[in-house]
Amino acid sequence: MAFPFLFLIVLSVPVSVDSKLTLGYYQKTCPNFEKIIRETVTNKQINSPVTAAGTLRLFFHDCMVDGCDASVLISSNTFNKAEREADINHSLSGDAFDVIIHAKTNLELVCPGIVSCSDILAQATRDLVVMVGGPFYNVRLGRKDGMISKLENVEGNLPLVSDSVDQLIDMFAGKGFTTKELVALSGGHTIGFSHCKEFAGRLFNFSATTPTDPDIYPKFAEKLKVMCGNFQKDSDMSAFNDVMTPGKFDNMYFQNLPRGLGLLATDNALGKDPRTKPFVDMYAVNQTAFFNDFAHAMEKLSIHGVKTGRKGEVRRRCDLFNSIKT
Ligand code: HEM
Ligand SMILES: *[C@@H]1O[C@H](CO)[C@@H](O)[C@H](O)[C@H]1NC(C)=O
Ligand SMILES: *[C@@H]1O[C@H](CO)[C@@H](O)[C@H](O)[C@H]1NC(C)=O
Ligand SMILES: *[C@@H]1O[C@H](CO)[C@@H](O)[C@H](O)[C@H]1NC(C)=O
Repeated sequence: MAFPFLFLIVLSVPVSVDSKLTLGYYQKTCPNFEKIIRETVTNKQINSPVTAAGTLRLFFHDCMVDGCDASVLISSNTFNKAEREADINHSLSGDAFDVIIHAKTNLELVCPGIVSCSDILAQATRDLVVMVGGPFYNVRLGRKDGMISKLENVEGNLPLVSDSVDQLIDMFAGKGFTTKELVALSGGHTIGFSHCKEFAGRLFNFSATTPTDPDIYPKFAEKLKVMCGNFQKDSDMSAFNDVMTPGKFDNMYFQNLPRGLGLLATDNALGKDPRTKPFVDMYAVNQTAFFNDFAHAMEKLSIHGVKTGRKGEVRRRCDLFNSIKT
């Protein structure tokens, strides 16, 4: 009897390798997963209210480059320049890295080697979005952490403020997102901030004849110019993405755009382009529509390019592969 029994066990391996993500993935192996993440992010967000925005952006950057596999968390070493290297220049928030590392430490204490860093980042992002007033969405679990993180994989996979609406639509379409989903996800700019260098061109160097972008509401432009007057020396200077309700996840970002209160050139462009403006206008008057579409798009983003089974690993530390890569 022993032989066929063994045979069955061997056969069952490929099934689990191909398994899809599920809501209850850690129910048996780490029953306190949800509670531990929720408590960790709550403490962090209370002590450092910029965490929610920083983590949302970190998650977006992770998913856009090689899928949601925590490749953005890997530190560079002598042999490998990691994704973070590019992102550091785009000022990813230290608090966001902290909260993920902290959650990982808390989880390793109770269920060592079980929970992936990519699942932690996905779940922590959802909890933080909800904490600042955003919509709930389901986060299915069972992601494995990626085995590759390379600086050169970043270029062309993350949007830049200098991108045209054509380029934004193409980049998102290339990853399976509709123009409507591009607009809904961009509503993430209802929280957080941007450094002056990201919008200084609109203030001081818009065109040969007009130094300041006439689309910016004049009084807003004056305030920004004062704040960013010294931005090349004082590179920490930054402004809220949503000047009206900066810490609250709401639809104010969309209400801001037609009023000349969009901060980044891309935000402003989404409010003007005939392909994206109708969605901006709809979300500006209907927060329910924005929340529904944002929730669906985030659920979709959070399974983008995920790795399961043997295509990844559960990292012991979120910033290091389990074995050294050369
Ligand atoms: C559509 C193209 C997009 C462009 C060009 C863009 C660009 C940027 C830039 C330049 C910053 C400022 C970074 C800094 O100076 O520290 C920023 C911040 C941010 N972005 Fe985006 N972004 C885009 C889409 C998104 C999407 C889809 C999300 C999320 C769903 C998102 C979430 C955020 C958040 C939350 C912040 C604030 C980060 C913080 O406060 O630490 N962005 N974005
Ligand atoms: C990031 O900044 C460093 C130092 O300023 C520079 O050498 C590097 O080329 C930049 N990388 C990217 C991707 O912009
Ligand atoms: C202003 O814009 C022009 C054209 O885009 C560019 O060549 C120049 O370097 C910019 N100047 C500054 C100070 O950023
Ligand atoms: C707002 O959007 C929701 C969801 O799409 C829709 O059911 C509702 O009818 C809209 N409300 C208005 C006033 O248009």
